[in-house]
Amino acid sequence: MRSRPDETYPPTPVSVDTLTIDIGEVEAILQGYPMQLPPWPEATFQLKDGRTLYLRSMTEDDIPTLLGFMERVMKVEKDFYDIVGVRVYGEILAVKRKRIKDAFTILGLIDGEFVGFANGRFWNKDLAISLHTMAFSRRGRVGWAMYYAKTYYAMEICKAKEWWSTFESYNGWRMAGLAMAQPTKPWPEYQHELGGAKVFYVNQDHWNIQLKQYLVDAVGNDLNFDVPEEVRKANAVLRVPETLEL
Ligand SMILES: CC(C)(COP(=O)(O)OP(=O)(O)OC[C@H]1O[C@@H](n2cnc3c(N)ncnc32)[C@H](O)[C@@H]1OP(=O)(O)O)[C@@H](O)C(=O)NCCC(=O)NCCS
Repeated sequence: MRSRPDETYPPTPVSVDTLTIDIGEVEAILQGYPMQLPPWPEATFQLKDGRTLYLRSMTEDDIPTLLGFMERVMKVEKDFYDIVGVRVYGEILAVKRKRIKDAFTILGLIDGEFVGFANGRFWNKDLAISLHTMAFSRRGRVGWAMYYAKTYYAMEICKAKEWWSTFESYNGWRMAGLAMAQPTKPWPEYQHELGGAKVFYVNQDHWNIQLKQYLVDAVGNDLNFDVPEEVRKANAVLRVPETLEL
């Protein structure tokens, strides 16, 4: 315990010597307050190989299953799955522990199987940050559909002015940096929160004039927000892939 400086301490008489702090008060300081963001409406997306991808928000109930799966992914030392996997693990856990500001997390399922992940968060009402996209089923352009869904959410549903991405992997950069022609902010003046890497960005002009339609053309389909009951039923129970197709 700190020793008292002198007999004049404290500088006024006090009723109590010790302050007891309720952790509820600390929690409110550490957490801040949430923005009032609309929910991601469930949707389907017809993949280029014909399969139907069901896109829904992650719920608290999904988290233990997803964390167990990400523990496996983060051990794969190939194509940057390890660094992306460990960061995604942290981002999912941060939702549970309430240590991420205004996150949104979209899961992609095919017949209940978890095949795609996309998340981001809001910095403020004008700026949304893209965090990660992952595909666990190959050659269907699942990654493209997932990235489109979260960009649609940020730019179309929430009307962010800018959407900031960065890319840890060659496949990620090729998909969303190169093919989507995203310019960069000056670096190192601007840094993405994922490791201080370059910021690639999309603004409303880019989104409306070019990117929205480009994505629909590139993947051959648009999002469908009128989800058929049989698709909802087929995806009612989440399960993770038994083998990692990475
Ligand atoms: C980046 C990512 C989301 C892209 O999603 P996607 O386009 O659906 O994913 P794929 O990895 O199946 O395919 C990307 C390209 O890699 C190549 N590729 C992937 N797997 C391949 C394989 N087994 N054999 C040959 N080529 C392969 C193909 O050229 C493919 O392009 P195509 O769709 O035109 O055939 C996905 O690669 C991924 O999850 N990567 C790991 C996590 C990651 O890096 N995320 C981005 C963080 S910045």
